[in-house]
Amino acid sequence: MTTTLIDGIGLLYTGDPEREEIPGAALVIEDGLVAWTGPAAEAPDADERVDAGGRAVIPGFVDSHAHLVFAGDRTAEFQARMSGEAYTGGGIRTTVAATRRASEAELATRARALVGEMLAQGTTTVEIKSGYGLSVEHERRSLEIATALTDETTFLGAHVVPAGTDADSYVRLVAGEMLEACAPYAKWVDVFCERGAFDGDQTREILTAGRTAGLGVRVHANQLTEGPGVRLACELGAASADHCTHLTAADVDALASSGTVATLLPGAEFSTRSPYPDARRLIDAGATVALATDCNPGSSFTSSMAFCVALAVREMRMTPLEAIRAATYGGARALRRTDVGWLRRGARADLVVLDAPSYAHLAYRPGVPLVHQVFHRGLLLEEDIQNHPADVVL
Ligand code: NIG
Ligand code: FE
Repeated sequence: MTTTLIDGIGLLYTGDPEREEIPGAALVIEDGLVAWTGPAAEAPDADERVDAGGRAVIPGFVDSHAHLVFAGDRTAEFQARMSGEAYTGGGIRTTVAATRRASEAELATRARALVGEMLAQGTTTVEIKSGYGLSVEHERRSLEIATALTDETTFLGAHVVPAGTDADSYVRLVAGEMLEACAPYAKWVDVFCERGAFDGDQTREILTAGRTAGLGVRVHANQLTEGPGVRLACELGAASADHCTHLTAADVDALASSGTVATLLPGAEFSTRSPYPDARRLIDAGATVALATDCNPGSSFTSSMAFCVALAVREMRMTPLEAIRAATYGGARALRRTDVGWLRRGARADLVVLDAPSYAHLAYRPGVPLVHQVFHRGLLLEEDIQNHPADVVL
């Protein structure tokens, strides 16, 4: 098996809590996995050598929350918000109508293009949700498309109650026939627990049914208002409670004392012009925090983890170290993965060479394309990867 040595790494951020940063580092890839990391002077020999030229290297971003299977456009809704209208989640139904009208090929092409966009920006693991189909047939179709792109697929039939249905019968459908049709294509079940979407009892019913069907649990919780979502997530052993924008002291305690990761999605607050979640309070209480894009056409149409890192540092008072940690290691914890999100022996060789001497430049130089090279499963991706991601599964 060919081994590749990447040396000349100015600063290696490993994401491994045991040895998080190594200045003047090298890394060896073997068989798609990380075989060795350490100071360059101690590096073993390898068949091939790549010189990082003093650049920083980080693990590929783990984007643990994205909605990529959709059609249509909500620019007008965004423009209305920027003129003062509030975000309510009501636009989800606009995307549902467009998604149902679209062909499977159109949806797949668009989702793949977004994955390509993500890869080119250094994201090497992504979670993809359904949630713009909201019928048995359309939810199953969305998840089938997602499974061709990633192993991390999430059934979000409970995004909102679709027009023309009453809430009770829809909850029964989601927890029954829809779950049965979707479970073979999903690893996770998720519910938008929010006023105007699903209440605590409905959320519990759907998540419990999903768990019984063998799916892991994650929750859209406390995005627009305080509510039962976060506590329910912790009680049900969810891998992640996502958004966490409006938290009570009890919510923070629950997150800090459970294995449930608090996944923060600052792109949503940016794009809905809302107050950001209180990351400091969560971190200081001892909760594990992840950052993700929430990429979707309504509340957060960004595919850039670097942008989220910059927002987290500037707007949420996370340090650059806390933010890069949340975007890599934190995302992996939110997906209960130990093979990605860090660069330690045995992990997948997913890494990004930055055109910068430190990961801190992701926040220090916001909006600047700093990705020099992306290695995915040990392979260096082509420069025009965003146009040719057809056979890449994240
Ligand atoms: O995570 N909050 C619910 N779902 C998405 C937004 C979906 C949309 O507006 O289309 C979110 O922000
Ligand atoms: Fe979301």
